[in-house]
Amino acid sequence: MKSIDEYISGHSTGETEALEWIKKQTHIRTNHARMLTGAVQGRFLKMLVEATSPRNILEIGTFTGYSAVCLAMALPADGHLDTLEINDELEDLILEGFRRAGVYGKVSLMIGDAGKSLTGLRKEILEDRTRPMYDLVYIDANKREYPEYYRLVFDIVKTGGYILADNVLWDGKVCLDPLPQDRQTLGIAGFNDMVAADSRVESVIIPVRDGLNFIRKVRD
Ligand SMILES: C[S@@+](CC[C@H](N)C(=O)[O-])C[C@H]1O[C@@H](n2cnc3c(N)ncnc32)[C@H](O)[C@@H]1O
Repeated sequence: MKSIDEYISGHSTGETEALEWIKKQTHIRTNHARMLTGAVQGRFLKMLVEATSPRNILEIGTFTGYSAVCLAMALPADGHLDTLEINDELEDLILEGFRRAGVYGKVSLMIGDAGKSLTGLRKEILEDRTRPMYDLVYIDANKREYPEYYRLVFDIVKTGGYILADNVLWDGKVCLDPLPQDRQTLGIAGFNDMVAADSRVESVIIPVRDGLNFIRKVRD
């Protein structure tokens, strides 16, 4: 008998050549291939971008660029993705993947701590007004920092725009009673509680892979 995951993969559109290349290189050149978004969720991200038609996207947590490519390939020619990554050793691999996927001109990779990059982006958007607000933000970096990412991005997402957060089921740990007290589980559980209690948004947790919290900002 096939597993549910095998069945889902077998009945969903597969990866492009460039995504296969990124996946292969991630396995060869890093020890953390399990962090890759993967074919099913990647396809879902691409189709979600097509369905919601954002022009400006922000991603927090690039890793080797797999999800960035999925998001960027669905953007219109004048659309743009900013993606934040702390690990500068990944830069060459990320940029090569962007070139191979044909999205290099639509993506800006910002290397550094996401908290610092977000503070800079907030200033450029809210004070200097030299950058547009985002239509979609994809959160997929340090699980301990999800509540802080949410606070930092909320004002730079357009009303009517979306915030999407990955790994919000955290392998089921968020449902355990008592709740595990490690900082990652507390970060994710705190984030989900914060979103559920926020009357400015509408949200739904989608159980694709490790869970995506799909959030729409309905008012400031
Ligand atoms: C789960 S991986 C992202 C996977 C990627 N979105 C994908 O689907 O291929 C998380 C990434 O966040 C990065 N990260 C962790 N803490 C960060 C921080 N404070 N600032 C920026 N990036 C960070 C890690 O280096 C790692 O590459």
